Amino acid sequence: MCGIVAVTGYKKALPLLLNGLEKLEYRGYDSAGIAVINSETKNITCNKTEGKLKNLINNLNDKNIPGTVGIGHTRWATHGKPEVKNAHPHVDSTGTIAVVQNGIIENFQDLKNKLEKEDIIFKSDTDTEVIPHLIQRELNTLSKLKLENNGSTLLVAVRNVISDLEGSYALAVLWSGAPTSLVVARKQAPLIIGLGEGEFICASDTPAIANFTNIILPMEDEEIALLTPLGIEIYDSNNERQYRNPVSLKVSEQIIDKMNFKHFMLKEIYDQPETAKNWLENYLIKNSENGRYQINYPFDTDFFEEIERVDIIACGTSKHAAMVGSFLLEQFSGIPTNVYFASEFRYSPPPLLPNTLTIGVTQSGETADTIAAMDMEIKRRSSIDDKKFKPNLIAITNRKESSIGRQVSKIIDICAGIEVGVAATKTFFAQLLSFYGLAINFAQVKGTKSSNEIDQLISELINLPPLLEALIDKHNESSKKLAHDFFNIKDVIFLGRGINYPIALEGALKLKEISYIHAAGYPAGEMKHGPIALLDKKVPVISIASPGEVFDKVISNAQEAKARDSYLIGIAPECNGTEIFDCLMQIPSSNEWVTPLLNIIPLQLLSYHIAAHRGLDVDQPRNLAKSVTVE
Ligand code: AGP
Repeated sequence: MCGIVAVTGYKKALPLLLNGLEKLEYRGYDSAGIAVINSETKNITCNKTEGKLKNLINNLNDKNIPGTVGIGHTRWATHGKPEVKNAHPHVDSTGTIAVVQNGIIENFQDLKNKLEKEDIIFKSDTDTEVIPHLIQRELNTLSKLKLENNGSTLLVAVRNVISDLEGSYALAVLWSGAPTSLVVARKQAPLIIGLGEGEFICASDTPAIANFTNIILPMEDEEIALLTPLGIEIYDSNNERQYRNPVSLKVSEQIIDKMNFKHFMLKEIYDQPETAKNWLENYLIKNSENGRYQINYPFDTDFFEEIERVDIIACGTSKHAAMVGSFLLEQFSGIPTNVYFASEFRYSPPPLLPNTLTIGVTQSGETADTIAAMDMEIKRRSSIDDKKFKPNLIAITNRKESSIGRQVSKIIDICAGIEVGVAATKTFFAQLLSFYGLAINFAQVKGTKSSNEIDQLISELINLPPLLEALIDKHNESSKKLAHDFFNIKDVIFLGRGINYPIALEGALKLKEISYIHAAGYPAGEMKHGPIALLDKKVPVISIASPGEVFDKVISNAQEAKARDSYLIGIAPECNGTEIFDCLMQIPSSNEWVTPLLNIIPLQLLSYHIAAHRGLDVDQPRNLAKSVTVE
């Protein structure tokens, strides 16, 4: 979703801004822009273009834009089409204030109506444009108090304006009255300050900062900061000055490199054996007394003893991981578990039950719906004076420094390294592993599985990395061939059952989001209750058939599809029954519990190759954003 970069220092701002914006491209956007202030003339130069960042770079065409202070933005359209007039930065009517914003100003219409009555003419359809006009009005008021034109005055003006804003935002403001200053502020949208040599950079995410410095200060919610080349001042919402130590960026938060892969998504699919190794190294330890492996999350699991049920909140792919997690927690560990779309949970939460563990799953840690749903759950549980209802929270995330990382103290960091492709692959895989860890912990604490059963599941997890490597190599080739035959298809049905039903959903989501082909996932047994009406020879069916309790049932459901002339692709090991498939994407035999971790691989590869064959922008599919920071 929108990305912000802002810089003040002694070096030329433009290259720093463009470099930062390039590193934020992965968040998803449809227009881009910059504003740079010349500290001598105090002029603000603003440049914006529709479409990709390269359009902005071409438009700037090596123009010499002097100035060491600037702001930049990649915009993902919410209010107003992706057109130049709606691209950020937005300026006030005097051209002396420029603003970039990520978020949604929910009361913008009321504010706009008031400003229009004061004869302010709006040039865009955005919610953001109210902000520079409001700041200008505020600065006019402050000038009557004879405040000096400096960064502190801008800080006061911005603080007064944001107190009138409803919604969520991260913003950066330039003012010609204080040409070396920047004011930045955030509420429920991320902003991180990087402390470079002779410069400060503020951005929506760490990759935009990593080229300049590896020392960062993440801003807390509702903080506002003044940045000048001489230093930074941070204030909380009560206007109290904040002092805290900066932290170092991890290497994995810095590197964005496609290596020799054509797309990040393919690289990230190939990263998965390493993702599994990292996760095992981080979370599996051998008990020196009994020689058995156990899961070692960075919090004491004693509190699991009193947990009677689990609620999981997530969106998109993270929700599919949560659904596999729910299956494991119920069927392996015997804990009643519900999974909720965060966007639904926010407005129709289930009645409160005691002794509940709430798990938020979000790779980015910034998904607005997930953060808001978790926040609501924390508030409604904290308001009850009964310890059985107290909030018990765990977050599963790839960004422990993110909003969810600050919201929740028990974090399972999935340690997948930055994922650039909008379509989640390796983070999904690491989220799945994290649920295996939780299920094992719960089964141990609750005594719902024998030591042997737990040891067997752990040894299947330990064996994963080489299996995954071979599986990826094999299906990279086979799915490329299949993609050649199917790249023009209009509809695809994915079937799975039990623990693999969410994998069918995830396979369908992957195909939809990067290839724009309609796809739907169903529990295989539901086909005959409606979706079977869709089938004919033009609609291939991809059926996940893992040996286990429901194997024969899945094969029968696949037969029903074949009888309607559908081309049948099987995701299954070679065994009795799988000869019905027109094409078998072979999976190694394994314990049924771990089959999701294998079955997802050919589905990711097939989606990737179909989208690549169609010549689409695999890593930045249209209309999508990597972290969805608006509701
Ligand atoms: C994944 O391929 C999707 N792009 C999307 O569904 C994503 O999983 C969803 O927006 C949730 O993101 P999060 O994990 O960062 O919360």
